[in-house]
Amino acid sequence: MIERILVVGAGTMGSGIAQAIAEGGRQALLADAIPGAAEKAKGRIAVSLDKAIAKGKITPDVKEAVLGRITALGDFKEIAAGTVVDAAVDLVIEAITENAAVKKELFSDLDKVLGPQAIFASNTSALSVTELARATSRPERFIGMHFFNPAPIMKLVEIIRGADTAEGTFEAVRVLAEQLGKTPVTVNEAPGFVVNRLLVPMINEAVYALMEGVASAEDIDTAMKLGAGHPMGPLALADMIGLDVCLAIMEALDAEFGDPKYRPCPLLRKIVRAGRFGRKSGRGFFDYHQ
Ligand SMILES: NC(=O)c1ccc[n+]([C@@H]2O[C@H](COP(=O)([O-])OP(=O)(O)OC[C@H]3O[C@@H](n4cnc5c(N)ncnc54)[C@H](O)[C@@H]3O)[C@@H](O)[C@H]2O)c1
Repeated sequence: MIERILVVGAGTMGSGIAQAIAEGGRQALLADAIPGAAEKAKGRIAVSLDKAIAKGKITPDVKEAVLGRITALGDFKEIAAGTVVDAAVDLVIEAITENAAVKKELFSDLDKVLGPQAIFASNTSALSVTELARATSRPERFIGMHFFNPAPIMKLVEIIRGADTAEGTFEAVRVLAEQLGKTPVTVNEAPGFVVNRLLVPMINEAVYALMEGVASAEDIDTAMKLGAGHPMGPLALADMIGLDVCLAIMEALDAEFGDPKYRPCPLLRKIVRAGRFGRKSGRGFFDYHQ
């Protein structure tokens, strides 16, 4: 039974995953490479719980209980040194930058300090689970656990089997997802899994349409909301996902398939180079400064 979970990466996804874990009654340890980032993420979780109280969805007692199950770790180096995280961690969920080399280095470091029972899961959007698993000595205890944004609300978790994932690992993670109130779908490893294979090329096409002057950003989004019944337009959704994350997913699809239909739109590259990452940086296709 998975009880104590270490979430590494306290950005958009890591903080949401830690909240979902704590709301599901499990203990979440939250860590980040940037000192103080986990504590700040816990502050953001408190703000979102305050909003839920204001809407009458939860009581202040529930908020305190949820926050009490989240431990924000300080300096990330403490983990690598083995002084904070010990053999009691049952599962690690990695939610750091979408970069294979950076993720592999982290998994290799964690492999040395965590007990042999710990399962390693990556929240990668499109990278190869099999390849990431090779950075550890436990590829049979390695799996993809792909949450969606915002993680406390979105029901889906794609559970991705790598080439070496053991049945027991898969089953433990599937049961946990259900216990957290999620609906798991099983995916055999493939670039972009299911959702991002379909969704991100659509977003990329919306960026091409914008670049070619087919319509304004507002009108592209209105067209897809009212014409295709999507709850959000593709460009607003891209801003929510993070434009750097969208670009990384297109690059992974492009590299894996080698098919020009997955070529990242040059406008997407340009905006990311300009540091416009969407909501998290205050500006993307739309402006989020008040
Ligand atoms: N944003 C989404 O909608 C979404 C959805 C599903 C999956 N994902 C995936 O989740 C992962 C995280 O995405 P995000 O949107 O939360 O990114 P983010 O940029 O918001 O957060 C990443 C965090 O990881 C930290 N970090 C970077 N390198 C680290 C390291 N070596 N050790 C510890 N911490 C480190 C950063 O300081 C940052 O706080 C990516 O793999 C992404 O593809 C994102």
